[in-house]
Amino acid sequence: MRWPTKNLGKERARKMANINAGVLSTGRAFPEGVLTNADLEMMVDTSDDWITTRTGIKQRHKAGEGEYTSLFAVRAARQAIERARIDPSEVDLLICATVTPDQLLPATACLIQAELGAHRAAAFDLVAACSGFIYGVTLANQMIRAKQARYALVIGAEILTRYVDYTDRTTCVIFGDGAGAAILGPVESERGILAARIRSDGRFAEQLHATGGGTRLGTTAQTLNSGLHFYKMRGNELFKVAVRSMTDISLEVLKEANLTPDDIHLFVPHQANQRITEAVADKLGVDSSRVFSNIAMHGNTSSASIPIALDECVETERLHDRDLVLMTSFGGGATWGAVLMRW
Ligand code: COA
Repeated sequence: MRWPTKNLGKERARKMANINAGVLSTGRAFPEGVLTNADLEMMVDTSDDWITTRTGIKQRHKAGEGEYTSLFAVRAARQAIERARIDPSEVDLLICATVTPDQLLPATACLIQAELGAHRAAAFDLVAACSGFIYGVTLANQMIRAKQARYALVIGAEILTRYVDYTDRTTCVIFGDGAGAAILGPVESERGILAARIRSDGRFAEQLHATGGGTRLGTTAQTLNSGLHFYKMRGNELFKVAVRSMTDISLEVLKEANLTPDDIHLFVPHQANQRITEAVADKLGVDSSRVFSNIAMHGNTSSASIPIALDECVETERLHDRDLVLMTSFGGGATWGAVLMRW
C-alpha cells in the first residue's frame, strides 16, 4: 500500500504564498455485521436478481446492538491521522458529516474530538445527507486556503440501518453502514482541490425524508407506531434529479478548472445506485475503466461513501500521484456537489 507523501513540513507550508488544500490521507471502518441480498430475500418480497439488476448491490454492512456512529468514525479518523503523520492536537477543524448522529446533543463531531484527543479543533456536524462529505471538503478547502486551519479532518459516518424500515422493500435494500475519513491540509498550488461546488434545493425535500423525532413531530408512541422515524424515499423521482444534478455540477467544476471529462483519470461518484453511477458517467463521456464502484460490497452509505471509496482507491492503487479525480454526490435535501482534485 502506498500513501501520498504530500504532508508538507510546517516551514515549507508557511513559505508557500498560494496554497491549495488537498487530501493528505484517508481511512475507513465498518461494522462486522453484513446483510446480504439472500438475507433480505428472507425478510421482504425481493430477490437477489432484482436488487443486483436495479442497484448493483450484493451486500451491505449493518451495525449490531451497542454499535454507534462515532465508534466507526473514530476508527476511520485514527487511520487517516496516523497516515498523515500528524498528531490529533494538530487538527484545527473537525467536520463530521452525518444524518445518523450518536445523540441529539452534543454534535457527534465533539464526541469524536474527545475520543481522538483533537482538543484544538473546532468540531461540528454537517447535515447534507449523501453530499455531506463533499460539503465538508468544500468548507475545509476554504478554511485551509484562508489559513484559518492547517489540518482539517473531514469524516462521513452513518448507521443508516437504524432508520431503515425492514418491511419497506424499496428502501431497505439500498442502505448500509460505515465510516470514511480524510485529512486535508496544505499542498503545492498546482495540486489538491482545483474546483469545488455545492448546491441544494429544498423543493425536493419529500423525495427522501424522515419526519418523526424532530420538533415538528416529536417522538411519541404514535410517531413510532407509524414508522415516521424511518426514511421514506421516492426512489424513482430521486434517480432522475440525481443523474441530472451530478452531471451538471461535474461539468461546472471541470469548466471552472478549464478541463474536460477526457482529462479525468478517476471518477469517484457517491455510491447511490450502480445505474445512477453509469448514467452520470455516460452523460459525462467517462468510460467505465475510469469509474470507481464499490456499491456491490457496501450499498449506499450516504456521507461515508466517497471517503470510503477514496480509501479503497488508495489501497488498491487506483489513484496515482497527480491523477485528476472527480468526485460528485447527490442526497436528501436535495443536496449535491462536486470536487475536482489533482491527487
Ligand atoms: N424488490 C423487488 N421489487 C421491488 C423492490 C425490491 N426491493 N423495490 C421496488 N420494487 C418494485 C416496485 O414495487 C415496482 O413494482 P410495480 O412495477 O409492480 O409497481 C417495481 O419494482 C419498479 O419500482 P421502481 O421504484 O420504479 O424501481 P426503480 O427502477 O426506480 O428502482 C430504486 C428503485 C430505489 C432502486 C431506484 O429508484 C433508486 O436507486 N433510486 C435512487 C435511490 C437513491 O439513490 N437514494 C439515495 C439518495 S442518494
